[in-house]
Amino acid sequence: MYAQMVKTGVSAVKTREEMSEQERAFQARIDAGEKIEPKDWMPDEYRKTLIRQIGQHAHSEVVGQLPEGNWITRAPTLERKAILLAKVQDEAGHGLYLYCAAETLGISRDEMIEMLHAGKMKYSSIFNYPTLNWADIGAIGWLVDGAAIMNQVPLQRTSYGPYSRAMIRICKEESFHQRQGYDIMMKMAAGSPEQKAMAQDALNRFWYPSLMMFGPSDKESVHSAQSMAWKIKINTNDELRQKFVDQTVPQAEYLGLKVPDEALRWNEDKGGYDFSEPDWNEFFEVLRGNGPCNRDRMRARVKAWEDGAWFREGLLAHGEKRAARRLKTAA
Ligand code: 3HC
Repeated sequence: MYAQMVKTGVSAVKTREEMSEQERAFQARIDAGEKIEPKDWMPDEYRKTLIRQIGQHAHSEVVGQLPEGNWITRAPTLERKAILLAKVQDEAGHGLYLYCAAETLGISRDEMIEMLHAGKMKYSSIFNYPTLNWADIGAIGWLVDGAAIMNQVPLQRTSYGPYSRAMIRICKEESFHQRQGYDIMMKMAAGSPEQKAMAQDALNRFWYPSLMMFGPSDKESVHSAQSMAWKIKINTNDELRQKFVDQTVPQAEYLGLKVPDEALRWNEDKGGYDFSEPDWNEFFEVLRGNGPCNRDRMRARVKAWEDGAWFREGLLAHGEKRAARRLKTAA
């Protein structure tokens, strides 16, 4: 029931000759760096691609609260608890900005949530991995939020206005998230041998799933070519993955931790690291709903949605009563 649909085959991008006049004018606006706004004309596929990507992104923020929320009551100090609580609340806020941005494209939040629950919309693969101990919370902030920033900073320049504006605010907060994670890792790595071993173990388990966050390799990426032509995406999946590795390896070295990749080498010619690809079979299995926590995550989301029904109904009834009262007074 909760399997996420997996498609293969790279989408073709229309040539100028194949475009209608309206499509050519639209592409010219994109090429000129103009932002597209909700009431502007846009090709159906542009609209669908945005709903898919922004919706998936919104779901990721919300589902992403689960692995961390689980640790709020077990944070080691009051200060860490307050910081984690603020971070998890930020993620809920990011979900809300993004659902609102997607709603400007003509889909409702309820529809997107129904699609998520029916396995017709995805959320990031990373949140299907368990958080086993406190060091995992450090690794998530450092690596997962670090990967999210690497992906999302360029998205501030995405061609769709509401998405671009949501990303500006989100990126500011993500940068605090990444630092709080790295701060936990610094404490653990400089702590007792047991604490350092926990930090290393968290890095070992989260390294490859973090690399998977950037999506399949460019040759397997179904949407990249068209999304880049429309400037919905600014970089390819592999470009961002490379930048993430180049940025993160020195951070691991500073912590005195070892990235779990025997093939990792600095390549002078390309000015970046050579590294091992993640296990793509594992990635596609997670997308099919077979990761370690897919079922738990969806069960928790569906339960939260069902348990909150009385509140949503109450809000609606209250709104209807107020509207009826206003009409009566106006008559
Ligand atoms: N997890 C789940 N699904 C993924 C994925 C991942 N890590 N990477 C790719 N996919 C899916 C795609 O959605 C697509 O499936 P679909 O056709 O059914 O929609 C399929 O795999 C093929 O991948 P493509 O490369 O063709 O897809 P995209 O062009 O959409 O690129 C992406 C994938 C790079 C993730 C892009 O969608 C993107 O940049 N999204 C916005 C950022 C985002 O969603 N981030 C979520 C990260 S978590 C987060 O931000 C929370 C923070 O608090 C940490």
